[in-house]
Amino acid sequence: MSFIITTPLYYVNDKPHLGSVYTTIICDAIARYKRLVGEDVIFITGVDEHGLKIQRTANEKGVEPKIHCDEISEIFNVSWGNWNISFDKFIRTSSKNHELIVNEFYERVKASDDIYMGLQKGWYCVGCEEFKDNPENSSTYKCPIHQKNLEWKNEENLFFRLSKYQEQIERIINEPSFIEPLERRNEIINFVSRGLKDFSISRTNVSWGIQVPDFDKHTFYVWFDALLGYVSAISSDEKGCSLEKSINRGWPANIHLIGKDILRFHAVYWPAMLISAGMRVPKKVLGHGFLTREGQKMGKSLGNVLDPDLLISKYGNDPVRWYLIKDISLGSDGDFQDKRFVDIINNDLANTIGNLLNRTSSMSRKWFDNKVPNIEKISSENKLENFAKIAVENYIQKFNIYKLDLAANVVLNLAINTNLYLNENQPWMLIKEKNNLPIVKEIIYNVLESTRIIGLLLLPLLPELSSKINDQLGSIYKKEIPWEQQLRWGLLISNSCLPKPTPIINKLEYE
Ligand code: MSP
Repeated sequence: MSFIITTPLYYVNDKPHLGSVYTTIICDAIARYKRLVGEDVIFITGVDEHGLKIQRTANEKGVEPKIHCDEISEIFNVSWGNWNISFDKFIRTSSKNHELIVNEFYERVKASDDIYMGLQKGWYCVGCEEFKDNPENSSTYKCPIHQKNLEWKNEENLFFRLSKYQEQIERIINEPSFIEPLERRNEIINFVSRGLKDFSISRTNVSWGIQVPDFDKHTFYVWFDALLGYVSAISSDEKGCSLEKSINRGWPANIHLIGKDILRFHAVYWPAMLISAGMRVPKKVLGHGFLTREGQKMGKSLGNVLDPDLLISKYGNDPVRWYLIKDISLGSDGDFQDKRFVDIINNDLANTIGNLLNRTSSMSRKWFDNKVPNIEKISSENKLENFAKIAVENYIQKFNIYKLDLAANVVLNLAINTNLYLNENQPWMLIKEKNNLPIVKEIIYNVLESTRIIGLLLLPLLPELSSKINDQLGSIYKKEIPWEQQLRWGLLISNSCLPKPTPIINKLEYE
């Protein structure tokens, strides 16, 4: 059985911003974790290339939409490489295979008698690619997300009979595990309780899209097209693409991780479309919050947009990952503050984890011939071993319910407790007395062993830092042995060589 996890398919109106980096990093951490615990993961990401918003962006640049999309899609692809994102599939909705899927899906929905022609009137936000629920003062009403005026639309469109699925959708969204976290679920329950209205799935004024069969002037509404990207990503290969193949390869998705602004599409429209086409609905929609900058919404007009490329070149990958994963509770809004960022990285990663490893390895090398000490007897009561065992259990429990911030804090706490243990026991004092040698060996072994476990627990969260910790401990992590087995206490080998320590992370300066 596959474990399918998806990021949203990002609009290619611009290159990735910190919001898209955030979602993608969280998905990456979950995907890495699931692989480590033995799941056959399909991690899907990609780009949403059609629709009015992209058509206009290309027009404003004076280039063909296809050329524009090629350029920005490539930037996304390269960027995810720079961020060390372990995706398995990158889907472009302008690809031929994707078009095949949209057409096949449409035929199924039509066969269920869920498509009809109607008149679509309403106020539209091009930024959201969405009709807004009837704001009164309309032409002066700005979309709260994009801060732009809405546009009046009045045209013949094909509609999807969403209203037919009221009861089924109610049943699905009331399943406690379907939408998380709880606030998001309540939002959707409220929305659905007001009664579902059919929505239009074609456009006559947008040429940059997939043409609707038998309706020359109509292209598919970008959301009807884009959501299917998740399905086409699974089966798409050089031999083509089909719904049956996607189903055979493991559809439905286990998790759609998305921002709160696009919850309705994923938790209401999408399941109804899938039921209509005779397909299974996703198992979970996980809605995260929004990132702000120093308390303000990030926006070009405010001049406070954080450029992810700059962040990565200035600080590297893992510090940004740590901040986004550990400091923001998944589901709540989060704020990126420069000073806080620097403090957190210096405290957590450089001082608490990096320094612990560095100084313990140095002591071990100095006193025990560049090696891990050879422990003869392990005292019956081992405080650190108990801490580590509890930490491993807690970490797995938190990760399994996608509380990544709490899982990260478990690792940090283990490092804090390991530092405390070292400071309480003061092996640098004990070593002065020859008789203390066995106990010093034991203390140093315990600290190094705890550090090994910290490194392993960091593998899904901070893959680069984790691999540096592993190098410093003599490369003892074995890919071929199940990760969970290697979390057992006591696997660090006595007398094994310790390489010369180098700092695993540099302290950051606040400018
Ligand atoms: N193309 C659609 C998704 C189609 S999925 C089949 C789309 N794209 S988007 O590029 O506008 O947004 C992608 C994701 O980025 C959304 O989940 C959105 O919530 C998220 N974010 C956009 N700005 C954000 C922040 N400032 N902070 C966190 N995430 C934010 O919607």
